[in-house]
Amino acid sequence: MGRSRDRVGEQFLLSRPDAQGERLQKVLARAGVASRRAVEDMIRQGRIRVDGEPAHLGQRVDISDARITVDGVPVPVAPGLVYRLLNKPSGVVTTADDPQGRAKVIDLVPGEPRVVPVGRLDMDTEGLLLLTNDGELVHRLTHPSFGVDKEYLAQVEGNPRPAALRTLRQGVRLDDGLTAPARASSPGEGLVRLVIHEGRNRQVRRMCAAVGHPVTRLVRTRIGPLVDPRLKPGEWRDLTPAEVAALYAATASSPAGAPLSAPGESTGGTDPGVGYDALP
Ligand code: URA
Repeated sequence: MGRSRDRVGEQFLLSRPDAQGERLQKVLARAGVASRRAVEDMIRQGRIRVDGEPAHLGQRVDISDARITVDGVPVPVAPGLVYRLLNKPSGVVTTADDPQGRAKVIDLVPGEPRVVPVGRLDMDTEGLLLLTNDGELVHRLTHPSFGVDKEYLAQVEGNPRPAALRTLRQGVRLDDGLTAPARASSPGEGLVRLVIHEGRNRQVRRMCAAVGHPVTRLVRTRIGPLVDPRLKPGEWRDLTPAEVAALYAATASSPAGAPLSAPGESTGGTDPGVGYDALP
């Protein structure tokens, strides 16, 4: 009797393979992809895949292990993923472990769940730093092949002339090779705004020094689409689902090799660095 009831239950589940889990459009709307209605359209257009297969209307997914992509870009839906955006103050190290016992960025955000910094900023660099437990995003943001751009505002010695800015844009010969094309402008006296998509050690400082303008203060003002001029040094906040989705999308449309901008041209982002134009 028990066995036959089990078989009935099994048949029921097999006949309705989508009956468990959450509706795909609800999951993707919550993940910041688009409204439920828009997600349905995207499903019809074949832009969404679940575990490599085209998604279908009415589909339900188990968010703890479904691999969902939109236009080939992963959408993180697993429970427990956190994304902390920190405005790193000067004098704090980015490494998770510091044998010298200096203040660490991970001590500025909650200890649980454990997160790691995405890339690193020098101890004396300030500004936006992302910390997360999403390994896929860490990989996509730090691997050079994805080339997500980062924007820095540097206070420098002297007043950069057009020729120095041109060199920064075209490529600077450093001891570890020529830098890739970058965007460079001078938004004010003694200031350089630089957008790069490489992540070499002390790259901005070395580039500016190489063109005769050593950096006296350095702030990262943007990571791909992420900006937050209101976040104060030492403060952090969680990313919104839309910001997480935008970050993933930025890793799909790499700006590596993008055309160079004219001096002073906006470098994009959801809010191009308002509040960082003049260093306080
Ligand atoms: N470039 C630098 O020189 N330092 C940083 O911390 C980040 C980029």
